Amino acid sequence: MLQSASSRLSWTGKPIVLVGLMGVGKSTVGRRLANRLHLPFADADHEIERAAGMTVAEIFERFGEPYFRDGERRVIARLIDGTPRVVATGGGAFINDETRALILDQALAVWLDAPPQVLAERVRRRDTRPLLRNRDPLQVLTDLAAIRNPIYAQAPIRVSSDRAPHDSAVGHILKAIGL
Ligand code: S3P
Repeated sequence: MLQSASSRLSWTGKPIVLVGLMGVGKSTVGRRLANRLHLPFADADHEIERAAGMTVAEIFERFGEPYFRDGERRVIARLIDGTPRVVATGGGAFINDETRALILDQALAVWLDAPPQVLAERVRRRDTRPLLRNRDPLQVLTDLAAIRNPIYAQAPIRVSSDRAPHDSAVGHILKAIGL
């Protein structure tokens, strides 16, 4: 079921996992949400980089995307093993069938959503994302939104992060989980 920010769902203490496209603000919103809830925060991409001793771009380049997805699934499984925390995931994590099943089973997934035009502006500030390198970000993000949004929609909570400041997304999430 898709819930808008105005509908409620009571949070039972499961890990909260932010999903959504690149540039939507999963890490920033996640960190602020964790602060508000006095929970630890983890960024799955950073954890993967730490475990591999390489950047995400290097992993893609040297070992390919399937290898990255495998490591991503294992890292996320560890991050949602029961300890309450807020986890920001990379944009493709929830698209992987196994990783999504794990998240839906063991965590509360929150889809942060914004139009591709807004995301394209935001991703221009960082050029480390392998899927966007040497490509038109607006085109890539528009194509990814068409494929991925119906899958992100499986998250029980959807919050728009649109042009509003990230703090308002945090407020919407807190409201949606009944806090
Ligand atoms: C990806 C998103 C990235 C990172 C990798 C792949 C994707 O994370 O995991 O480059 O498939 O959408 P962000 O969403 O944090 O940029």
